[in-house]
Amino acid sequence: MIVCRTILEVSRLINKSNRLRQTLGLVPTMGSLHPGHLSLISKALQHNDIVWVTIFVNPTQFNNKEDFNSYPKNLEHDLHLIKKISNKINVFQPSETEIYNGNPFLKKYDFNGLDLELEGRFRVDHYNGVATIVSRLLSLFEPSNAYFGEKDYQQTQIINRLIDLEKIDVNMIICPTVREKNGLALSSRNKLLSIKNKSKSSIIYESLVFLQKSFNKNRNKLNIEKIKLKINSVNDFEIEYLEIVNNKSLQIELEFSDNESYRAFICVNVNGIRLIDNILLN
Ligand code: PAF
Repeated sequence: MIVCRTILEVSRLINKSNRLRQTLGLVPTMGSLHPGHLSLISKALQHNDIVWVTIFVNPTQFNNKEDFNSYPKNLEHDLHLIKKISNKINVFQPSETEIYNGNPFLKKYDFNGLDLELEGRFRVDHYNGVATIVSRLLSLFEPSNAYFGEKDYQQTQIINRLIDLEKIDVNMIICPTVREKNGLALSSRNKLLSIKNKSKSSIIYESLVFLQKSFNKNRNKLNIEKIKLKINSVNDFEIEYLEIVNNKSLQIELEFSDNESYRAFICVNVNGIRLIDNILLN
């Protein structure tokens, strides 16, 4: 397994592989890997000749210093997990200086309003920060395929738009959310939950599945407020949003159309830890 810390090292290796016309799969991560990430890496291995995993906790996508500082980090364990899948995987684990040269900046993009909905309302500039680093990584690696998780569905739509805006030649592959036995979507942040709250978090996915069933039974008779009240009644749980939006525009519509797809998005703040999830309704 090759672990690179500098852009120069990566460029040298990438140039070599480009010459051989091999396909390259990129899995961008912020580390603290869990089986959700590992499923992306395994997919990338199935599809590509060369796989790169990047591990970088990107400061510009955090709008809260405390959140950035408490983001779980475990590099040794991450490398161990990657090696267990295959020692043919390459890892790029740059320092902040390597990426931002001592001056973390973010580019501002026109995401057609996708960044103003859902997470965007609670995390100003979060998606500009995500797009800045993803754009950097895509131009460095020029991958044939890049892998992202459906759990961060809004992020995947932002990256789709970025790919359009910057005319990047890459295939984006969205992989299904991996869940705990109780339905909780895997996230590096789950490590910060108490055992009790982790177990109670089953209510999040249960609510989404309930909403999916209700939507397909009678989409005009949904009682979202009742679901919110139920979640808010759990000790330490506070709903930030629960919304049904158009699967493409991520906007709320006044009436559901039979020709469109809809997705429910949820964010619950559990004692300061924000848990997000989503489900395709039809
Ligand atoms: O989903 C994540 O872990 C991050 O937002 C990403 C895509 C690696 C960019 O920092």
